[in-house]
Amino acid sequence: MRPIFHDTETPPQDLVIAIRQAKHIVVFTGAGVSAESGIPTFRDSFTGLWERFDAEDLATPAAFRRDKELVWGWYEWRRMKVLGAQPNPAHRAIAALAQHIPKLTVVTQNVDDLHERAGSQNVLHLHGSLHHPYCLTCGQAHTFAPGVPNEQGGGRRLSPPACSRCGGDVRPGVVWFGEDLPQRELLCANTLAQACDLLFAIGTSGLVYPAAQIPILAKQAGARVALINPTVTQLDAACSWSLHGAAGEILPRLLQAAFLQI
Ligand code: OAD
Repeated sequence: MRPIFHDTETPPQDLVIAIRQAKHIVVFTGAGVSAESGIPTFRDSFTGLWERFDAEDLATPAAFRRDKELVWGWYEWRRMKVLGAQPNPAHRAIAALAQHIPKLTVVTQNVDDLHERAGSQNVLHLHGSLHHPYCLTCGQAHTFAPGVPNEQGGGRRLSPPACSRCGGDVRPGVVWFGEDLPQRELLCANTLAQACDLLFAIGTSGLVYPAAQIPILAKQAGARVALINPTVTQLDAACSWSLHGAAGEILPRLLQAAFLQI
């Protein structure tokens, strides 16, 4: 039977030992890791101002072709949320864990930069980034003006900027449904998952492939997998430990148990 740890309990001792002994950890994260920073998860981002819409309306190439102002406005709303947010204890504990482990890579489905801002150095973004838009026509990277977030990004239609090279529409730098993941990042993530001894899957519903394959690849290659999520997910079947609770509560406690109480 799989050990289940609830966040009110002491961390499981065998997981604490596995962390201490790990030579190579992959931390695979989803939207839940940023939830405690106030960033809505992907599913929750279709609420409030955006409740009339779904992923088909906002996160596909066809949606951008159909109504680029609507799509750009939604991504600007999300980018504003990220610019106004701070890394939470989960992001910080992951960055701190890396200081104790010979090799640790964060593989994230998140399009924010909160892992980097918490101090994580090796971060692979499988679904792109809100901060790196590019021209739909010629691929030229677009740089946002620094400083104050665009106030107009607060949940309304906005025209995308024009490319400085060819005048084409700039598109969000994220991977949309129906698009390929960046091949270098995906290949690298798969290789790391198959080489690590311990993989954490944190704050992800495990519903979106091919990213959701990563914990399964790790398990098949012999790694142990620890899950952190308030709810049961698709990935529970692949894990050695399922820790039910908020990442920002559980991760600092695990770090403390593994390295600060020896
Ligand atoms: P989801 O929004 O599907 O799932 C978020 C998960 O986080 C859920 O399982 C929640 O239970 C969990 N969660 C919520 N609060 C948490 C907390 N405080 N600590 C830990 N877990 C918490 O997000 P993802 O799994 O990241 O793809 O979604 C994967 C991909 O689906 C996204 O990258 C996006 C979306 O479609 C693309 O845009 C291509």
